[in-house]
Amino acid sequence: EKGGFDHFMLKEIYEQPKAIRDTLAGRIKDGLVDLSQEVGLTAESAKQINKIHFVACGTAYHAGLVGKTVLEQLTRIPVEIDVASEYRYRNPIIDEHTLVVVVSQSGETADTLAALREAKKHGARVLAITNVVGSSVSREADDVIVTWAGPEIAVASTKAYTSQLIAIYLLGMYMAQLLETSVVASIGNLLDELQSLPEKTEEVLGQADKIAEFTKSIVHHEHLFFLGRGMDYAVALEGSLKLKEISYIHSEAYAAGELKHGTLALIEEGIPVISLATQHAVFEKMVSNIQEVKARGAHVLGLASEGDTELLKSVDEVMYIPTIHDLFAPVLAVVPLQLLAYYACVERGYDVDKPRNLAKSVTVE
Ligand code: M6R
Repeated sequence: EKGGFDHFMLKEIYEQPKAIRDTLAGRIKDGLVDLSQEVGLTAESAKQINKIHFVACGTAYHAGLVGKTVLEQLTRIPVEIDVASEYRYRNPIIDEHTLVVVVSQSGETADTLAALREAKKHGARVLAITNVVGSSVSREADDVIVTWAGPEIAVASTKAYTSQLIAIYLLGMYMAQLLETSVVASIGNLLDELQSLPEKTEEVLGQADKIAEFTKSIVHHEHLFFLGRGMDYAVALEGSLKLKEISYIHSEAYAAGELKHGTLALIEEGIPVISLATQHAVFEKMVSNIQEVKARGAHVLGLASEGDTELLKSVDEVMYIPTIHDLFAPVLAVVPLQLLAYYACVERGYDVDKPRNLAKSVTVE
């Protein structure tokens, strides 16, 4: 049942190209995104939306963090994001002009479901992104975009996350089309890039050995850092969660520009720092943040896009992802981090698929 893999998590990591392909399938027609079968929004009703709220937990929340940038860039509608357990108790400002997007692999997470109900009570339109057809969340939402990742068995979420990102890209582009925002002019190019993701994800998986090798340099550490800016910061948070969840190594993800505001005090000789630099708009800024930690003796693994060899000068080791539009880089950037968590867990001898104290689906508050 593990298809020749040692663990479900590894199998699911390797299933990502297929999960992405399946989530895209049938949703791109004649050079445009077509979600008309699943999303009831019309040009008219889309124009009535004046804010979007993402609500989710854990890894699904991290997908929403990427979603905030994606939807703001594509639709120019302001987006807020909350973890579901906060949202439901903070008396958020919701009305019939709010689109609430709940993201949940299982569709059964208690806090996410409660947040959905709260949003509906206030008249919002609720759109669910879920991996389970017929789940509670999918039954109660107004619109449902199913991620076709297939069953995810490992507690640590991997292919569900990348499929959630795909659903978010499709939603953003579909709404942009309905709203006729300026990105529509370049939708053909965006769709080409989006459709290149399965193949490029394969390419990243082809570098697994390199990650396995780097992992050896972190497994004996008890603390490490992930740094990134923009969407790389969102991916850093996901990488950090994954590592904590299964390898029990403590890590923190930081928006690189925040380092100077306290955290730099913790950077000392030999501490591993995983630095994401895939976002071209902030690449130079990221390089100087890396130099700051290097100057304090950190052992830096840099993650950049192919061709951005400038990073080499400032890091100890570098991994490249294939060149891609910045908006889509999170899909490729997360894969090495998933593998890092996986190999760290295996090296340390823990239970990959069933980490201590955790359940696959959190149906209690
Ligand atoms: O089923 P959901 O997507 O609602 O689950 C949300 C979180 O419990 C889940 O993503 C959790 O954080 C994962 N175990 C992380 O790998």
